[in-house]
Amino acid sequence: MNILLHAHSGLRYVVLGLLIAAIFTAYSKWQQGSQEDSKLYLFTLIATHTQLLIGLVLYFMSPKVNFDLISEKVFRFFSIEHVFMMLIAIVLITVGRVRSKKLSGADKHRTVLYFYALALIIILVAIPWPFRNLGSGWF
Ligand code: HEM
Repeated sequence: MNILLHAHSGLRYVVLGLLIAAIFTAYSKWQQGSQEDSKLYLFTLIATHTQLLIGLVLYFMSPKVNFDLISEKVFRFFSIEHVFMMLIAIVLITVGRVRSKKLSGADKHRTVLYFYALALIIILVAIPWPFRNLGSGWF
């Protein structure tokens, strides 16, 4: 549990870094009219799906997931808000990448740009940053 929690916690920076890099790449490839796919889109997808897998295991083990204490902020956050928002973000990244594979022309990279950017905003909101007083640290 401890190892998984540390992996899940540290991987947030990998996810954020890849997402930001993918968004910049999508923007510049869109502007250049490039038809070439970018491996960064795939790596971002893999990193978020890894978070999903680890998150699912944590969900069934974590003491912070408890529906009897749902009226308390921390329990509500981890039992509902965190999972719900992250699932939406991961679906957006998956749909964005799958769609972009099928598209050509200007739509190809613009699709990644929009879907990944929306996912980034949701992930930033759904991360239990220390200043949100949810009992989680920076790592
Ligand atoms: C991109 C997706 C995700 C990111 C960036 C992310 C990030 C994080 C971070 C930073 C923490 C705090 C870790 C700590 O306290 O050290 C956390 C905790 C947690 N996450 Fe996620 N998460 C993601 C997706 C998910 C998903 C999809 C699930 C469930 C299916 C999930 C379940 C959990 C649970 C249960 C905890 C609380 C563990 C505990 O402290 O006992 N996460 N997550």
